[in-house]
Amino acid sequence: MSFTAPIQLPGLTLDPLWYRRSVFYEVLVRGFVDSNGDGTGDLAGLISRLDYLQWLGVDALWIPPFFNSPLRDGGYDVSDYRSILPEFGTLDEFQELVTKAHERNMRIIMDLPLNHTSDQHEWFQQSRSDPDGPYGDYYVWSDTDEKWPDIRIIFTDYEESNWAFDSERRQFYFHRFFSHQPDLNYNNPAVAEEIFEITRFWLSMGVDGLRLDAVPYLYESDEGNGEGEPPTHEFLKKLRNLVDTEFPGRVLIAEANQWPREVAAFFGTDEEPECHMAFDFPVMPRIFYSLRSQQADELVRVLSETTDIPETAGWGIFLRNHDELTLEMVSEEYRQAMYGWYAYDPRMRVNVGIRRRLATLLDNSRAELELAHALLFSLPGSPFLYYGDEIGMGDNIWLPDRDASRTPMQWTPDRNAGFSSADPGKLYLPVVQSLVYNYSLVNVESQLAQSRSLLHWVRNVIHVRKAHPTFGLGSMTVVDSDHESVLAFVRSYEGAASGTQFGDAPENVLCVFSFAHNPISVTIRAPEHAGSDLYDLFGGAKFPAFDENGEVTITMGSQQFFWLHIGTPSRGLPRTA
Ligand code: GLC
Ligand code: CA
Repeated sequence: MSFTAPIQLPGLTLDPLWYRRSVFYEVLVRGFVDSNGDGTGDLAGLISRLDYLQWLGVDALWIPPFFNSPLRDGGYDVSDYRSILPEFGTLDEFQELVTKAHERNMRIIMDLPLNHTSDQHEWFQQSRSDPDGPYGDYYVWSDTDEKWPDIRIIFTDYEESNWAFDSERRQFYFHRFFSHQPDLNYNNPAVAEEIFEITRFWLSMGVDGLRLDAVPYLYESDEGNGEGEPPTHEFLKKLRNLVDTEFPGRVLIAEANQWPREVAAFFGTDEEPECHMAFDFPVMPRIFYSLRSQQADELVRVLSETTDIPETAGWGIFLRNHDELTLEMVSEEYRQAMYGWYAYDPRMRVNVGIRRRLATLLDNSRAELELAHALLFSLPGSPFLYYGDEIGMGDNIWLPDRDASRTPMQWTPDRNAGFSSADPGKLYLPVVQSLVYNYSLVNVESQLAQSRSLLHWVRNVIHVRKAHPTFGLGSMTVVDSDHESVLAFVRSYEGAASGTQFGDAPENVLCVFSFAHNPISVTIRAPEHAGSDLYDLFGGAKFPAFDENGEVTITMGSQQFFWLHIGTPSRGLPRTA
């Protein structure tokens, strides 16, 4: 299959690289809108706010699990992969969501927790009671809990071992996460076959992609540490092949919280691709580190590392999501610094991370919120927003675990923040009522009414980004600066051949970020652009030009950023705001 030829589907022409141009938005069904007043958000509620998401500029929704589940891990504990939790709605309503989203040219990514199930899943129940039956081998059973001592524990606050004893089968079963989430046994070919069938089931409903939850942990062996072992990659190649042959244009997104080289492995190679996208876990904590240390060097370092990834692969950039801000992939020294800055109250921590939302992490600083979003929207990859962060929603650290940042979306200053008409005590989680982030102050309605609100600002940046395919499709080169607080890089895109349906022009954009907490002056050096002019991408204003050596000196306010178009404005000013 050629990756540059548009794919024809009945009634739709797809850009095969659509996921690299898209702005994604993670939305919890439970937390967005409650349409029937039972206190829990639902699919009908989500459908009713697609217009809002379209207005914001969202191209694709990532929806965490909505399968039947005892909800002991936010739905990542699946008890049936083919049905929907009744309080969320029905398969028909899900189908309607897909249709209504597609009508708006918006895509739907669903979550597939494929490493484990709930202990309530029928497979597990059968596996415990009938070891010799058809499901006896669906999970990882052992007579001892001493196997694989090198496999680390992920939920360090909740689990002491990756093994739990089952009193019925009288054996231990393996679990990477909560003990009520037994790991599936991928060494049993029947398990892989089940996952292929489940994939077909949902992609046949028109779903545009799957986020593969906890994907490094599928296989474990005596030799490895249970993370990204070779058979896991072999399985992903098969899954990718299934998608490419039966559902071209749909995508696989890897959730692999690993070191840079290991994450990149989940893309596979040009010849044997695996996932289309992978979340950029290495870059995320380093954004937060730079904001407080006022040093750009760690970001400069990870971004300068050249990791060869297949031509069609793309990163998923994110600041926050429904989980804790994980600090597993930073050094101990950095981790302690991050805890000191961002989780000074031990209640703010969970496992190896911080369970707070973006606005509270940044102490509601508008400058920092803008700087962080500017990185989110210009680093190589596709941005993933987390619901509510576009209005700077707060969190509630008095709630257990990651529920702290899964509270109801704040729509209005009315009862239950306009999320639900239920008795407030009946809500799945209370709305945020803290001093600074109280829903009467922080809500969509009031931010719509203020032209300078964070919501309008985020929407504007999204639209500027979308007017420049360079951000999604272009390459990135880190360039030198003479200031330790400055990160500068050039995004470059050669443009799509004119005459194709995506006849984009070539473009170079210089992105400059200052992490300094005071104004600075910085000289940037990019010899290949010597003599070029610079224009602000938002308003079109002319900036000082690169001199004949490719140097330019600019003044920056505290925690400021610039996106500057490089070159002469032959196509008119790059004015998109
Ligand atoms: C993933 C999910 C997280 C969940 C875990 C176990 O990391 O993002 O929310 O708890 O998998 O399923
Ligand atoms: Ca409801």
